Amino acid sequence: MSSQADDIDCGDPDPLLNGGVSFLSGEPNQYGSVMQYYCDEPYYSLPPGAVNVCGQPTVDFSVTQRIIGGNNAPQGSIPWQVRISGDAGGMFIADRWVLTNIDCGDPDPLLNGGVSFLSGEPNQYGSVVQYYCDEPYYSLPPGAVNVSFSCEADGKWRAVDDFGLKPICSPVCGKPRVDLLGIERIIGGDNAPQGSIPWQVRMSSGAGGMLIADRWVLTAAHVLSPNMQPRPANDIKMFWGTNAWTDFQVPNVIAASVHLHPGYNNTEHLNFDNDIALIKLPAPVTFNKFVMPICLPPEGSSLQTRTGVVSGFGLTRTVDGRYYFSDKLKYVHLPVVDPRTCTKSLDVLRRTMSDIPEESHNMFCAGLPDGKRDPCLGDSGGPFALWSNDHYWAAGITSWGIGCAQADRYGFYTRVSNYVDWIHKTMNEN
Ligand code: ARG
Repeated sequence: MSSQADDIDCGDPDPLLNGGVSFLSGEPNQYGSVMQYYCDEPYYSLPPGAVNVCGQPTVDFSVTQRIIGGNNAPQGSIPWQVRISGDAGGMFIADRWVLTNIDCGDPDPLLNGGVSFLSGEPNQYGSVVQYYCDEPYYSLPPGAVNVSFSCEADGKWRAVDDFGLKPICSPVCGKPRVDLLGIERIIGGDNAPQGSIPWQVRMSSGAGGMLIADRWVLTAAHVLSPNMQPRPANDIKMFWGTNAWTDFQVPNVIAASVHLHPGYNNTEHLNFDNDIALIKLPAPVTFNKFVMPICLPPEGSSLQTRTGVVSGFGLTRTVDGRYYFSDKLKYVHLPVVDPRTCTKSLDVLRRTMSDIPEESHNMFCAGLPDGKRDPCLGDSGGPFALWSNDHYWAAGITSWGIGCAQADRYGFYTRVSNYVDWIHKTMNEN
């Protein structure tokens, strides 16, 4: 050995991850020393020609394997098993890799709307969907422009944007798809084109009403309790979605429950104060071109100098003055009248007639000084609709009048804006 060779020191051999080095001969690390690498058997093995240890558990299944009706796996018998938070499974295929297939399943369906796939493999990890409502009859809540969900690693659909929740599609109110064509002329009224007053309800008793939500009809209390005895709900049949009541392709829905205003007390038929009632429907209505609710009065609404649309299937008059029940839905435009004029017309009537009902601040009157156009028998409970901010809202409910369409007499309507709280409370509690 040369003196030079005596000085050669290789240092420690490189360590081996999941293995080690053993010295076979010689002075450790010195010139001529021999060492051997090994792997941590049985979990790791040397590459060349080595048996792949993947899939060779060191613990055996003791029984036949099944999952539903399966057996407990002995510890170590399925050592590649991985549990991913959120109830998904996976398996080790390398020391830094887990194999899995995350499937979120179909996203929750949306009533009166749907889900569209935006990107990714449908329902798989990373796929993105978006909820929509069936426009133009339903709309997303305000502020929910883009309601997207993505399939996350835990196998669940999660909101992508700030909205955060699966939306609810709310019915669009007061925006008919069909215009009231023709000039306004019920008595002296025009036929309403199909779909122009899509909230109109007709009751089998011959009264009117209006849809205000998918399970609620608003009407007058007096048509539901002719003798202060509310008619049983299963006596009340309604239809809507048509401008001609001879049609038989219409729902004929039986009321689920009837809610008269608690302040309605009209034993003598002389007190129409609180002439308002709600009918609950047995199932939600799906809205469409011919069936749509009317909006409730906006906050702080005013009736002054306004002209509204009154509609119904009530009594109408032929040119030669004969009255008959209309089989067509009629409407008429009528101005709201100054309350002093309403009071004065009643005072004048009281001079020659008895039994004139009392006025109250829960009513307004509307009509023309020369008469001719007015709702009449059978129109009660129907809508007096006003148009503002791009929609119709229920300003009044046809309630009472002295005769029909006579000069210097006006029709009286329940002032719906005084009852918005009662309406919401009744709908929420029932
Ligand atoms: N009270 C009647 C009814 O039950 C009609 C009310 C309207 N009368 C009037 N002249 N505006 O149908």
